[in-house]
Amino acid sequence: MSSATPPAARGARTVLVTGAGKRLGREIALTLARAGWNVAVHHRHSQDDARQTAADCDALTGRPGSARTFFADLGIEASVRNLLPAVVDAFGQVDAVVNSASTFEHDSAASFGFAAMDTHLRANTGAAVLLAQALHAHIAAGPGRNGAVVNLLDQKLWNMNPDFFSYTLSKAALEAANTMLALALAPQVRVVGVAPGLTLTSHLLSDDKFAELHRQSPLGRSSTPQDVAATVAFALDNRSITGTTLLVDGGQHLMRFERDFSLM
Ligand SMILES: NC(=O)c1ccc[n+]([C@@H]2O[C@H](COP(=O)([O-])OP(=O)(O)OC[C@H]3O[C@@H](n4cnc5c(N)ncnc54)[C@H](OP(=O)(O)O)[C@@H]3O)[C@@H](O)[C@H]2O)c1
Repeated sequence: MSSATPPAARGARTVLVTGAGKRLGREIALTLARAGWNVAVHHRHSQDDARQTAADCDALTGRPGSARTFFADLGIEASVRNLLPAVVDAFGQVDAVVNSASTFEHDSAASFGFAAMDTHLRANTGAAVLLAQALHAHIAAGPGRNGAVVNLLDQKLWNMNPDFFSYTLSKAALEAANTMLALALAPQVRVVGVAPGLTLTSHLLSDDKFAELHRQSPLGRSSTPQDVAATVAFALDNRSITGTTLLVDGGQHLMRFERDFSLM
């Protein structure tokens, strides 16, 4: 770490979590802070939420300055390319990236077009690959260092339906990238997928419907945010795992759903 590194951050590993202002990204950030990580809390529109996440991470580590917020629009290449260097400037070094941010907009085979494809592929696939590339370049520059990338995927890749067509395509491409990056970035950087099932509801689902869909899993419950975050922490710590995906979904991928959960 450089001499500019805040004293609070020295000696601890640093992780960048994208989309960490809210929802799963926030839970992942808090879980990693609880385990002692410095957390770079990325956001786009949710700046206030990101500040709250960072304050809560600081409270968990007991080290003020152990978490800081960073803006990037993951749909814009220059913005993505600036992100990891900004985190390195702030913390001195970065050890891991968790690609949790995701664009999730509805389209179908009938409404599909290049605009929707482009939006999803940039934010959900391209940005994750660029951040992995940047982490590898940063880690490889320091002899003897190693790092890890976790890519948030989705159980629906193993239980396909055509809803949210461009989103699903972008996650399928990210799953392929997960394998290619694991090969390309070894031995310095491991690359692991974590695929949640239905974990958090959306404005498209009533609370009752969400609870019912959760119960329909083979295990009688799908994943909780804590289950997903604990798996991310495990993937970051386990030095033998790369190029694979851990499905955390109560077994939903073993079932057959005709529609996306949010449209059922
Ligand atoms: N939630 C679930 O039940 C579930 C199920 C299966 C898989 N997953 C996967 O788990 C991950 C987290 O899920 P989630 O529900 O927490 O995600 P989410 O709420 O849909 O999105 C998380 C954040 O992504 C950020 N984001 C989207 N597009 C962006 C862009 N172009 N540039 C920068 N940030 C962007 C947004 O940040 P700002 O608000 O700051 O703009 C948003 O708050 C995702 O990868 C998702 O595919 C989730």
